[in-house]
Amino acid sequence: MTTPILLTGGTGTLGRLVAPRLRAAGRDVRVLSRHSHEPRDGIEFVTGDLATGQGIDAAVHGVETIVHCAGTAKGDDHKARNLARAASAAGAEHLVYISVVGADRVPVASGLDRAMFGYYASKRAAELVVAGSGLPWTTLRATQFHDLVLMMVRGAARLPVVPAPAGFRFQPVDAGEVAARLVELALGEPAGLVPDIAGPRVYGMDELVRGYLRATRRHRLLVPVTIPGRAARAIRDGANLAPERAVGHRTWEDFLADQVSGRPGPHDVRAGSRPSAS
Ligand SMILES: NC(=O)c1ccc[n+]([C@@H]2O[C@H](COP(=O)([O-])OP(=O)(O)OC[C@H]3O[C@@H](n4cnc5c(N)ncnc54)[C@H](OP(=O)(O)O)[C@@H]3O)[C@@H](O)[C@H]2O)c1
Repeated sequence: MTTPILLTGGTGTLGRLVAPRLRAAGRDVRVLSRHSHEPRDGIEFVTGDLATGQGIDAAVHGVETIVHCAGTAKGDDHKARNLARAASAAGAEHLVYISVVGADRVPVASGLDRAMFGYYASKRAAELVVAGSGLPWTTLRATQFHDLVLMMVRGAARLPVVPAPAGFRFQPVDAGEVAARLVELALGEPAGLVPDIAGPRVYGMDELVRGYLRATRRHRLLVPVTIPGRAARAIRDGANLAPERAVGHRTWEDFLADQVSGRPGPHDVRAGSRPSAS
């Protein structure tokens, strides 16, 4: 038995890849979820909700390291605050957080910015909560996971005519590679804000949609649309990209080929993949 590592979001796209890697490193894992789960593969589950605070004290009890992967499109700062407060009271020694590339570069000024890109502001606010928590911390920013990009293009391709935000680019990264890096960080010393992790290539939104349509043998008309607002302009300027940190290996094309064929990818420790919500 080792002191358990608390993993929030351990049922999500990323967290489900983190848990087995922590186990493979010989660590006991406790997953916090809003739903009850039977223990499996040496993983203990505790029920709690970071938004309401319910169950968090029990989740952090006796834990030294916390890997915080729980997240939604809104309110991650509030969830981080509840977690950090309980973790500090319990004497935790290392809080590891996953954020997003661009959290500090996408300005969320207007109502439109907030409606479309409020996620970036809430990730930045959560980063500040983690850094100001008084706990030793590590934060890693990642670009969009392949799974999220797939969910976006799949949704877009359901429409007969696909609106493609003009000038938007993405640098999708493999969630398994992000999980491996998070585990490395969780097992190391607190390091503050560490270098970003980003996928091997930058793609235009139109290129991603066309790649998906080709792989699924579909034809759609793509119509470029210009999204107004300062946040959208920052995205057009590449605020969500980290080309100098293109350290990911698995490409979008490889991921897509595996998804379309139903083959598990090289980093898929999981049985199947689930699109993420953020
Ligand atoms: N997806 C991306 O492209 C991307 C890129 C960069 C960074 N990130 C960040 O990576 C993290 C994980 O993303 P993901 O795509 O794996 O997310 P996901 O698949 O949508 O999973 C979200 C997880 O958060 C948990 N959760 C949500 N609300 C909660 C609450 N109130 N209390 C406790 N747990 C809660 C869910 O657990 P239960 O449903 O079991 O309660 C679930 O495990 C997020 O912080 C996200 O912002 C994601």
